[in-house]
Amino acid sequence: MIQDVLREPAKAAIFLVADVRPGSEAAVRDLLADVAGLTRAVGFRAPGDQLSCVVGIGASLWPRLYRTRAPRDLHPFRGLSGARHTAPATHGDLLFHLRGRRLDLCFELERQLMRRLAGHVRVLDEVQGFKYFDERDLLGFVDGTENPAGDKAAAALAIGDADPAYAGGSYVVVQKYLHDLDAWQALPVAEQERVVGRSKLSDIELTDQPVNSHVAVTTIVDRDGTERQIVRENMAFGSPGSGEFGTYFIGYAGTPAVIERMLHRMFVGEPPGNHDRILDFSTAVTGSLFFVPTADFLDNPTSAGTDGSLGIGSLKRSSR
Ligand code: HEM
Repeated sequence: MIQDVLREPAKAAIFLVADVRPGSEAAVRDLLADVAGLTRAVGFRAPGDQLSCVVGIGASLWPRLYRTRAPRDLHPFRGLSGARHTAPATHGDLLFHLRGRRLDLCFELERQLMRRLAGHVRVLDEVQGFKYFDERDLLGFVDGTENPAGDKAAAALAIGDADPAYAGGSYVVVQKYLHDLDAWQALPVAEQERVVGRSKLSDIELTDQPVNSHVAVTTIVDRDGTERQIVRENMAFGSPGSGEFGTYFIGYAGTPAVIERMLHRMFVGEPPGNHDRILDFSTAVTGSLFFVPTADFLDNPTSAGTDGSLGIGSLKRSSR
C-alpha cells in the first residue's frame, strides 16, 4: 500500500530533512516502522483534519538501513548549472513530509517523531509551510491547479513494472526556493502572468504561452503525445520579520527522470538558454531526492522481496 501521498491539498505542512548519525540505524528503522501508528495516534484526535506523514529515504542511507538492494532509480539529487541559474544538491538521509488542515497537528506529530529520533539524527532543514489564501504561493499565483488527480495521479506516482520489487513506492524531490519579492512585485501583473503562464486572479492558462513561462517549461510531452506528470504539493513559507519569502517545492513521481527533465528544462533550458523565468525571481537553496517506500515495506522490510530478486533472509530479525 502506497504511503499517504495522494491527499487533498493541505493547508499546513512541515518538511523535515535530517541526517542519521552513525550507529543510530536500528533506532531509525524502528521509528520508521512506527510512523504510521504515531500518525494515527495524533490524527485520530482530530477527525477530518487529514493529518498524514510521508517518509522518504535518501540514497546513502538506504544500505545502512536495509539489506535489500536499493530501488533502481535511487541516487543522490544531481545539481544543475545553467547559464544564469543553479540548482544546488544538498544532503539528506531522511525526509518527513507532514501535512494536514492544521499546523498544530503537524507540529505535534513532528514533536513525537523527534522525541524518538533525539540523539539519532541531525536536522538539516525544517520548514513550516502554509497555503496563502485560495491555494496561492507567495508569488500570488494559485499553485497546484494542473496536478493530476485520481487514476492519473496514481499512474504518475507508481513505480510499477520498472522495478517490481518496489512497485507501489515512489520518488520525491524537494527544493527550497527563496523569492525576491521586491523585484517580483515591481513587475506589472500582466508580465508576472507571462512568467508563470497563467492569469493571476482567475488562474486560467494563457493561450499565447511564452516559451520560457513556468508552465511551458514544465509541461513535458513524449513523442507519442503522452504528457509526463508529477504530483506536487508546494507550500509557502517565510518570515516577514527577517524578509524571507519562499516556496518549498515537493514533487512525487514514479521515476525521478520526469522531475529531472523538468529541472533541466527550468535551469539549463531546452534549447539551452531558454531557462524558466520564474527562476529570475526565485533562488533554489536546497535540493534532495528520496525514495518513498510503501507503508508495508516500512512496517516489514522483507515485504519487498516478493519478486525473488532481492535474495534476503529474515531481515527483520537479523538486522535490527
Ligand atoms: C505549475 C509555481 C517550482 C513543476 C505551476 C504553477 C505555479 C507554480 C503557480 C501553475 C499552477 C499549477 O498548475 O500548479 C511554482 C513555484 C515554484 C515552482 C513558485 C518554485 C519557485 C517547480 C518545480 C517543478 C515544477 C521545481 C518541477 C521540477 C510544475 C508543473 C506544473 C507547475 C509540472 C504544471 C504545468 C502544467 O501542466 O500546466 N508551478 N512552481 N514547479 N509546476 Fe511549478
